[in-house]
Amino acid sequence: MNVLGIETSCDETGVAVYDPARGLRAEALYSQIAIHAPFGGVVPELASRDHARRLAPMIRGVLDTAGLDIRDIDAVAYTAGPGLIGALMVGAALAASVALALRIPAIPVHHMEAHLLAAMLEPEPPQFPFVALLVSGGHTQLVNVQGHGDYALLGSTLDDAAGEAFDKVARLLALPYPGGPALAAVAEDGDPGAFSLPRPLHNKGLDLSFSGLKTAARLLIERQSVAAPLADRARANIAASFQAAVVDTLVNKCQLAMTASGLERLVVAGGVGANRRLRAALKAMGERNGVTVYYPRPALCTDNGAMIAYAGWRRLGEADGAVPLIVARPRWPLDDLKPVGTGA
Ligand code: KG4
Ligand code: ZN
Repeated sequence: MNVLGIETSCDETGVAVYDPARGLRAEALYSQIAIHAPFGGVVPELASRDHARRLAPMIRGVLDTAGLDIRDIDAVAYTAGPGLIGALMVGAALAASVALALRIPAIPVHHMEAHLLAAMLEPEPPQFPFVALLVSGGHTQLVNVQGHGDYALLGSTLDDAAGEAFDKVARLLALPYPGGPALAAVAEDGDPGAFSLPRPLHNKGLDLSFSGLKTAARLLIERQSVAAPLADRARANIAASFQAAVVDTLVNKCQLAMTASGLERLVVAGGVGANRRLRAALKAMGERNGVTVYYPRPALCTDNGAMIAYAGWRRLGEADGAVPLIVARPRWPLDDLKPVGTGA
């Protein structure tokens, strides 16, 4: 069984072939950083056009690497949402075309479900149930995961996503797009205790909020650059202090979620999950609290085709043999999904 996975929800084209019996056969990723960098953020139309340019040659390349012919593919999984509508349409249209030509199923995949399941591709995958911390550019959610597709939202951000906060503060620090990794790199040379920034924990529930922290960071940056542009040292200190505040906030909320749910496993997913400091701090929190923390390797935290192929394979049973539709849902709440295998 070979499942082709296609990811085109934002600014990365991801393609992979997953075989449940043999694991990941081949994968390829193309990042559009160079295209969007001059604009300081993702330009949706440029993203769609580049996905359209890259996708077919990347599929050919992945098949070659795996030593497969396109006729060896048994199903095509693609990101159907959430994401940028034009970018989603490119992957969905190509997936539906391949499926129609080969008379195989096309499986629309929820991007955040794929992130949530990415840890399953690791050699020691987590068992259900677990709490998932989803931290990406558009989402910050804590989810009680009882099984495949059985999700209860425990909390989510009331304003900015964690990745979005990283990206915005990086911009204020005049760091290049994509901001998260750039800010994290600069923070390595800074002192996380240099400036005291708020840990937005005011509500005792499991919802999060990053707008107050973002404003405090903006005011700090403005104060520090009144007389002269920020020196490298000050920039590193602000980046480190901001990163520490985000990490503390996420770790605290995870700890609360573990207590509230009574679960013993925490799975980290999404682009911000690649952050070294967050990974270390969550691991330490787990050790203090008897919680096992799972996170996929950084390349499986950020967008990729492998997680789409895997998540699609898990929902293969839902394919009904009908002519494949082009499904693209820019907004798609995670808890709209039905548990796998119930047919509900
Ligand atoms: O999951 P992802 O690749 O795409 C979305 O589905 O959004 O997440 C991208 C987000 C961006 O906001 C990016 O700045 C952030 O993840 N990110 C990081 C790091 N790597 C990626 N944030 C902090 N530290 C990192 N190392
Ligand atoms: Zn993502």
